[in-house]
Amino acid sequence: MLIDNSVQLRRPEPEDIEAMHRYRNDPRITATLGMTSRGYARADIAEWIEFHRKNRDDLVWTIADLNDQCIGHCGLYKINSRNGVATIGICIGDVGFWGKGVGTTVIDGVVSYAFQQMNLRKIRAEVLASNISALKLFDKLGFKTEAILREYKYRNGQYLDFHILGVFRNEWEQRCEQWQPE
Ligand SMILES: CC(C)(COP(=O)(O)OP(=O)(O)OC[C@H]1O[C@@H](n2cnc3c(N)ncnc32)[C@H](O)[C@@H]1OP(=O)(O)O)[C@@H](O)C(=O)NCCC(=O)NCCS
Repeated sequence: MLIDNSVQLRRPEPEDIEAMHRYRNDPRITATLGMTSRGYARADIAEWIEFHRKNRDDLVWTIADLNDQCIGHCGLYKINSRNGVATIGICIGDVGFWGKGVGTTVIDGVVSYAFQQMNLRKIRAEVLASNISALKLFDKLGFKTEAILREYKYRNGQYLDFHILGVFRNEWEQRCEQWQPE
């Protein structure tokens, strides 16, 4: 799926393992996600790709640059067709791509896909309270804060708060109708 003229989304391939292994072990990335990990081996990444290839409850894409190099991944997780709900996640692992609008473009594309192609009715996200760029991004795209999970996860000697965000399809469609090109 071509998102815009700077990035594309495609299914993860074994060729992505090297890049994913690099960024999933990068403390700048793990800090923004509030993750605790003892580190990933390449075999763990290969297993993760294989798991998501088979798992019908998740839909994971590689975010690739125009040279088809993996710069991150994103996905719809815990897809529940009966309730019409899924959780969205994104990780731009190449920090050289941060702050250039890629995250906004990717989330915009994936949420549109979830509503228009998968007929889901609600997308939720879980964001670390200190992750300002992610909170700004979701706010800009119309997600609303539904809850704050106080001291939800323990990492590096601290308990971290998380925001639970959500957007309904009708809210998304209204935002798209209101949007006017500058
Ligand atoms: C969070 C993330 C997805 C944001 O993507 P991005 O491409 O860097 O963000 P964008 O360029 O689309 O900018 C989104 C908003 O954040 C703001 N922003 C970007 N970098 C920022 C920074 N360092 N500090 C404060 N705000 C920042 C932008 O200004 C923009 O808001 P604006 O349009 O109101 O100006 C990306 O940095 C990332 O993947 N980080 C690592 C993993 C992660 O945090 N995932 C999210 C977990 S749900």
